[in-house]
Amino acid sequence: MHVVLLVLISLFFCCKAYTNELNLFTSRHYPSDLILFEKFEEKTGIKVNLINAKSKVLEKRLLDEGAKSKCDVLFLADAGALYSAEKKKLFTKYNETRPLKLIPSSLKNEYWIGVTKRARIVFYNPSLIDYNEIKNFSYEDLSNSKWRKSIAIRQSNNIYNQSLVASIIEHKGENFTKKWLNKLVKNFSRKPQGNDRAQILSVAAGESKLAIANTYYYALMLSGKKGEEQKKAALKVKPIFPNQDGRGTHINISGAGILKFSPNKKNAQKFIEFLLTKDAQTLLCNSSFEFPIIENVPTNKLINNLKNFKEDIFINVSSYGKRQAQAFKLMKKAGWN
Ligand SMILES: [Fe+2]
Repeated sequence: MHVVLLVLISLFFCCKAYTNELNLFTSRHYPSDLILFEKFEEKTGIKVNLINAKSKVLEKRLLDEGAKSKCDVLFLADAGALYSAEKKKLFTKYNETRPLKLIPSSLKNEYWIGVTKRARIVFYNPSLIDYNEIKNFSYEDLSNSKWRKSIAIRQSNNIYNQSLVASIIEHKGENFTKKWLNKLVKNFSRKPQGNDRAQILSVAAGESKLAIANTYYYALMLSGKKGEEQKKAALKVKPIFPNQDGRGTHINISGAGILKFSPNKKNAQKFIEFLLTKDAQTLLCNSSFEFPIIENVPTNKLINNLKNFKEDIFINVSSYGKRQAQAFKLMKKAGWN
């Protein structure tokens, strides 16, 4: 009798543990995300098991494990990375419940959904360039011979750059982009190198006049989390949001999707809905300095000071993924190392 009871109890706990788990693969690396996952556990009783690695590593593991994979949600930065996983048939469609309906259609597709936003913008040094000279700046202007040997940008293998170039192809076509790239590489102030923050540092030091970087790196530097020197450098530069009097500034996402072989699909759906709540958005954005994807989310002032600009909502972010290989080929051909 006791043995039967014990078996029943252990079966109950075994199944309970199984249905109340969520296995999350994420390329995000912010300690405060852990607080967020604890909140989800508190709210729902669903335990979050986390695997953190670069997106390509996570993608490879999911492909290797195939149907044996226990992972439920894949959470990645850049629409291009999400598209790559989608093309490998790793996702299943999510349910477009109310919180997911709120996300603009340009920032999701049927397999994955934007969770936070970021913009890839231009930074200039106001001691070298007058604001009036640059106030109506566009991405197209980056190829102007006026900026010869002036622009700091990272290498062509960087996914953020590939997404930006993909958006130019999407808007202006391949021929325009080819010509634009050929002139742009002549405007590089140095051989592309380093991360986004390194480009901002180059402008702050006066080595370059313009830098291309994502908004959250600038806010991260201003926050002082990367040290006093980087904070001082960030204070020396100013952001310019390109194409404000036209289609708007290039916008990208970090986003998540439910995996095809997920054993806990209901929990996965719940988790994505949770990420889109105001509380979760505040925590996500205050740790990464990205922009919230839903309206009226309280965030810290480093984000608030940046977030009011016209976004390019004319193309779906998934087009970046579709055109990334084409973009990379053109960038290489133009001599962008
Ligand atoms: Fe980044």
